Amino acid sequence: MDRFDKNFGESHNDESSLESAVKLGNSEVLRGNLAAPMEKLARLDAFRQASRQEMPICEKYAYFDHAAVAPLTQAAGEAIQNWVGEAMQDGDAVWMQWASQLTRCRELAAQLITASTDEIALIPNTTLGIHYIAAGIPWKPGDGVLAVANEFPSNLLAWKQLTQLGVDVSIYQPESDGRIDLERLLAMVTPATKLVAVSWVGFSSGFRINPGELAAELHRRGVLLLLDSIQGLGVFDLNVQRDGVDFAVADGHKWMLGPEGAGILYIRREHLEWLRPVGVGWNSVRNSFTFSATELDWRESAARYEGGSHSMVGFAGLSSSLAWMQRMRDAFGERIWEESVLDSTQWAVTALREAGATVQRPGRIEQQSGIVSFSWRDEDPQIVRQRCLKDRVVLSCRLGRLRISPHGYNNRDDIGRLIESLRK
Ligand SMILES: Cc1ncc(COP(=O)(O)O)c(C=O)c1O
Repeated sequence: MDRFDKNFGESHNDESSLESAVKLGNSEVLRGNLAAPMEKLARLDAFRQASRQEMPICEKYAYFDHAAVAPLTQAAGEAIQNWVGEAMQDGDAVWMQWASQLTRCRELAAQLITASTDEIALIPNTTLGIHYIAAGIPWKPGDGVLAVANEFPSNLLAWKQLTQLGVDVSIYQPESDGRIDLERLLAMVTPATKLVAVSWVGFSSGFRINPGELAAELHRRGVLLLLDSIQGLGVFDLNVQRDGVDFAVADGHKWMLGPEGAGILYIRREHLEWLRPVGVGWNSVRNSFTFSATELDWRESAARYEGGSHSMVGFAGLSSSLAWMQRMRDAFGERIWEESVLDSTQWAVTALREAGATVQRPGRIEQQSGIVSFSWRDEDPQIVRQRCLKDRVVLSCRLGRLRISPHGYNNRDDIGRLIESLRK
C-alpha cells in the first residue's frame, strides 16, 4: 500500500468519525485528527462542483448507472456534434483531421495506463477486444484457459468457444459475495494453463481485484493475464508497466464517459511478436494507404488489429472525454476520480444501510469499486428501478438486485435523491 492508499484507507475505515465528532461538537478532534479528512472533503467538493459543470446530465438526473452506459461529457458531446457537422459539410475533405483524432485517442489511452502508444489498438467494443486475444493465441489441443463464473458473458463466451479447438476451459467460482480468492484461483492453474481471463471489477459484485498481484503470481507460473477493464478504467489506477498485465480491454462507454462503440485494447509489446493478428484488413499493414499492396506486412504496433474503418465519431467523443478527465486529474490530483468515486459509494452505502437496504460490498477499500449492489425491502428490483426513474434517478438491476454506480461528479444531493426515491 502506498502513502495515498494508507491515508485514504484510514479515513474511510473511520467512516463515522467525522459524523460523530460533529455530533459531539468535539472541536479538539475536528482541529486535530479530522483536519486531513475535512481538507479532503473540501477538495472533493471543489472537484465535484467543477466536474458537474462539464456533465450536462446533472441538470436533469441523479445518475447512478455508469456501470451500464454513462452519459457523455460536454466535451465529448461537442466533439461529436462537430464531427456530424463536418461529415455533412466536408466529408472526406477533412478525413485526415479525423484520423489525427485516432492518434490522439491512442496517446490518451496509453497515458492513462502508462503504456506505449504502440501497444494500444482502437476497437469497436470490449467483446471484440477479448476475441482478438482469444483468436490470436495459437492454441494447441490440451492447452488450458481459466475464466471466472458470474463474469459478464463476453468474458466467458469467448473462452468457452475455444473448447471447439480442444482447449480445456476451467471456470473458477468466486465466493458468494463475488470475492475472488487469489489462493483458490491459483490452485486451479495447471501446467497446461496458458491464460487467465478476469474482470478488474465484477460488473455485479463490484469486487475489484489487484491486477498487479495476480499478474505477478501468474507470470511466476508462466501464465498470461487478460484483464477485462471496462468497469475500472477511467477511475482506478492501472499502470501496465508496474502491474504487468498482458492484455487489457475496455469500451469507453462506462467509466471513461465516452460513447458506445469506441474502446481500447492494450497488448504488451512483446506479445505482438507472436500473437496472431485477427480481423486483418487494409489498415493492418504498413502501407495501409497503398491499396495495391497486399503483402502480410503488419504494422509494427497493436494498431494492426484495427483492420478496417473506425467509428470516427465514436473516437472523437472518446478522446475528448479522456482529455477532459486528464485535465481534471492535472488540476485536482492524479487519483481524484478514484477518491471521489470511493467516497461517494461509501456515503451511499452508509445512507442505504441506514434506510434499510441490504448492501453487498467488500469490506477492504482496495477491493471496493464504483459498483454497489443491494436489495430494497423485498421489493421487486424492476419496480424500484421504474419508481426511481420517474424521479429522474437512474440505477440498474443486475442478477436479481439493484445496482448503483456513481461516478466522480456525483454529489451528496444525488445520493439524497436516491434515498428519497427508494423510500417512496
Ligand atoms: C465486465 C464487462 N465486460 C464486458 C462488457 C461488454 O462490453 P462491450 O459491450 O463493450 O462488449 C460489459 C458490459 O456491461 C461488462 O460489464
